[in-house]
Amino acid sequence: MAKLKKKLPTAFPENFLWGGAIAAHQAEGAWDTDGKGISICDVLTGGNKDKKRDITKGVQPDYYYPNHTAIDFYHTYKEDIRLFAEMGFKAFRFSINWARIFPKGNETTPNEAGLQFYDDVLDELAKYQIEPIITLCHFEMPYYLVEHYGGFRHRKVIDFFVHYAETVMIRYKNKVSYWLTFNEINNQLKHIDELTVYTNSGIIFKENENQKQVVLQAIHHELVASAQAVIAGKQINPNFKIGCMLAAEPIYPASDNPADVMTAEISNRSLYLFGDVYARGKYPNYFYRMLENENLTIEIAADDLKVLQKGTVDFISLSYYQSSVVRYDKKAGSVYVNNEYTPKTKWGWSIDPIGLRYSLANLHERYQLPLIIVEYGFGEEEHLENETVNDSERIELLKQHIKQMELAIVEDGVELFGFTPWGCIDLVSFSTGEMKKRYGFIYVDRNDQGLGTNQRYLKQSFYWYRDLLAVNGDLRRLENGHAIKIN
Ligand code: BG6
Repeated sequence: MAKLKKKLPTAFPENFLWGGAIAAHQAEGAWDTDGKGISICDVLTGGNKDKKRDITKGVQPDYYYPNHTAIDFYHTYKEDIRLFAEMGFKAFRFSINWARIFPKGNETTPNEAGLQFYDDVLDELAKYQIEPIITLCHFEMPYYLVEHYGGFRHRKVIDFFVHYAETVMIRYKNKVSYWLTFNEINNQLKHIDELTVYTNSGIIFKENENQKQVVLQAIHHELVASAQAVIAGKQINPNFKIGCMLAAEPIYPASDNPADVMTAEISNRSLYLFGDVYARGKYPNYFYRMLENENLTIEIAADDLKVLQKGTVDFISLSYYQSSVVRYDKKAGSVYVNNEYTPKTKWGWSIDPIGLRYSLANLHERYQLPLIIVEYGFGEEEHLENETVNDSERIELLKQHIKQMELAIVEDGVELFGFTPWGCIDLVSFSTGEMKKRYGFIYVDRNDQGLGTNQRYLKQSFYWYRDLLAVNGDLRRLENGHAIKIN
């Protein structure tokens, strides 16, 4: 007889990928430099928490477009990466702007200057042994595909995406190991709203069309495109690790009323649907039933289901910001309600560190795949004082979330292999287009009108994160925000 035992980690594993994350459209600027085409976020105006961003028809002369200049990472990447290295980053997640490589999206030959830019960024990261994690599509489809194909409504866009994915995977096959396909693809089903659907799929709704029908067809095209990219990637370099990217926002039941509990379970399927296809390679039965019940149809090509089955992912990456709550409603089915236990940020996002552990445990149990958190952050309005920002609330929230990550690893046995907090340097907010909603460890002197020196300043969280990384995330070895030196 022997004892049933397994050696599990008791802390963050030694090779844990600590780092930070950005997206091309929110950081690079240089929107029309070196042959880049207009991407979908280049026609988004600035907004704020009370005013939505407008989608203009092409780039119009009289509007201010915050993504056109962003924080000018295109020209400052060397300085910024040096600062990331100073914090001890082991990984850096960023996206390739599709429109920099294929300005219109339907070309056969890529734009060499665009490819060269990412070669330079990758070389700079290699200098500091920082592992790149690349998102292929983080809301950066070429705008031409929106105007001429209706975005992912059109099946042809699968081919354009796969050609783009193959091009960059071949080019960087010896410089990149980790790839993610589509950023937060599930959000467009959870909230079928104009901005989310447009930025995820390049779709602008027509009058009186069945929006859910349109979105589901586009989602099918994206899932096939993602699976094809996985299959192609594995041929290009069998050592590639290719993952999906899900927005994890767990939905809790409003009470112990079984009707609320079941309503929450059903609402969570807006996330599970994607995980089920990416990880298990097939649409789940509840999805087929929903199509039938709601009289929705998805057109598929002969091989699509086989492609989904073959192109499953190696790992799941997720963003996590908040949780939400639903209750059963006889008329509407489900209604979102307030959670009195979770405070809110100024932008109304709920703060729920335990929800992160819950999400990790839940996704890991469901899919049995390694996980990486490629976004978490606290967006706040901040001002420089003595050339720094005292962002103690961000530090506190990071501590609370990191504690939950550790619990997930140690207590729940989750195979979590990295954490790249969002907006490791201040950048343009996706949902509002503001600079005012800051996430960074590094402050960028730029405001919502595009004014400022663009100079970088180190916030207090910069030093705290650097110290945390020096002790591999062991919060117990940090004293008053500074690492206790061991030996
Ligand atoms: C995620 C996106 O939704 O959340 C990022 O992947 C985005 O692009 C981040 O920036 C934070 O959202 P926001 O709207 O505060 O920038």
